[in-house]
Amino acid sequence: MDPFLRKLGIELPIIQAPMAGVSTPEMAAAVSNAGGLGSIGVGPSDAETTRKMIAAVRARTDRPFQVNVFCHQPAATDAAREAAWLARLGPEFARYGAKPPNRVTEIYQTFLTDDAKLAVLLTERSAVVSFHFGLPARERIEALRAAGIVLLATATSLAEGKAVAAAGIDAVVAQGYEAGGHRGVFDTHAPDDRLGTVALTRLLVSKLDIPVIAAGGIMDGAGIAASLALGAAAAQLGTAFIPCPESSADAGYRAALLGPPAEHTVMTSAISGRPARCLANRFTALGVGVEKGSIPDYPIAYDAGKALHAAAKATGEFGYGAQWAGQGAPLARAIPAAELVARLRSEVAQESHRLQSVLSR
Ligand SMILES: Cc1cc2nc3c(=O)[nH]c(=O)nc-3n(C[C@H](O)[C@H](O)[C@H](O)COP(=O)(O)O)c2cc1C
Repeated sequence: MDPFLRKLGIELPIIQAPMAGVSTPEMAAAVSNAGGLGSIGVGPSDAETTRKMIAAVRARTDRPFQVNVFCHQPAATDAAREAAWLARLGPEFARYGAKPPNRVTEIYQTFLTDDAKLAVLLTERSAVVSFHFGLPARERIEALRAAGIVLLATATSLAEGKAVAAAGIDAVVAQGYEAGGHRGVFDTHAPDDRLGTVALTRLLVSKLDIPVIAAGGIMDGAGIAASLALGAAAAQLGTAFIPCPESSADAGYRAALLGPPAEHTVMTSAISGRPARCLANRFTALGVGVEKGSIPDYPIAYDAGKALHAAAKATGEFGYGAQWAGQGAPLARAIPAAELVARLRSEVAQESHRLQSVLSR
């Protein structure tokens, strides 16, 4: 068995991506029970909710699972920019008979400063903890490692991958530009080379000494087999799991993902304040042409984004949702998570037979 899979304690090189607000303890447990690595995203959750979510996974599986936290820099408040942003969104709220909130705030705390959440992770000791948007301080990494937890972190570039390896993280998630959801870039002000999953995975496999997990646009066994052929130790799939019955995606999001809107995804910062890939919808249209500097910091902008979505949704309009999805979205299948893992497993086997027969011709 592959040493990295053995370290993670899983049978299959398949990781269900942590998806804050979409993945659930039910989904994570179903994937882990099926032989993959299930995950929960607790980036926006406080320590107590994190503890409850971990307990909810444990109530359904005794297999390893991943808990994911957000390591973004704390938001810088800018009252004038926030007021201007709310004023700009005003006509959208008005369309649904609502008003923007009077003010917006940093609706959740970064893991960089959240001692209570660290304490929960150290007590609960899930098999795997992962970091998105950057890395925590050395002492936090050392404490988690000392607790016997395997650590993963997202990288979107070679420089970020080198930082992940240098920090003593066990494996790196190579998140290509195709990926759904928030891009894991460490510094949103730095230039972004927008590397795709293939190039990024190859770069990190070739230049780093730690295992690489490919992520972005991988929807089926052929995508997983391709990732393994690139040298990845496993593939992490997010969008593929969104339509599963275990996900908490709402009806509008599911319908869009399973219909023609899935053919168009857009990278936008307008919804949350950080770049994220979303199904093209009313909110992404609103973000087109908006100057980067006019959007409040993440997650302050998300406070406004969630309020606008709630106002529109109350009237039956789902088009302002954070409908995160990767470029492979049209390949998503609405089947239970365990069934999806079983299909992925047999597709990988089929694909490797196909490749062998092509190569032996
Ligand atoms: C709905 C959604 C939510 C996500 N939330 C998180 C998250 O909380 N933490 C994280 O590390 N990555 C998150 N991601 C990114 C995934 O980890 C992964 O990089 C991405 O799903 C891979 O691309 P794919 O969606 O094309 O499979 C999210 C992705 C989606 C689609």
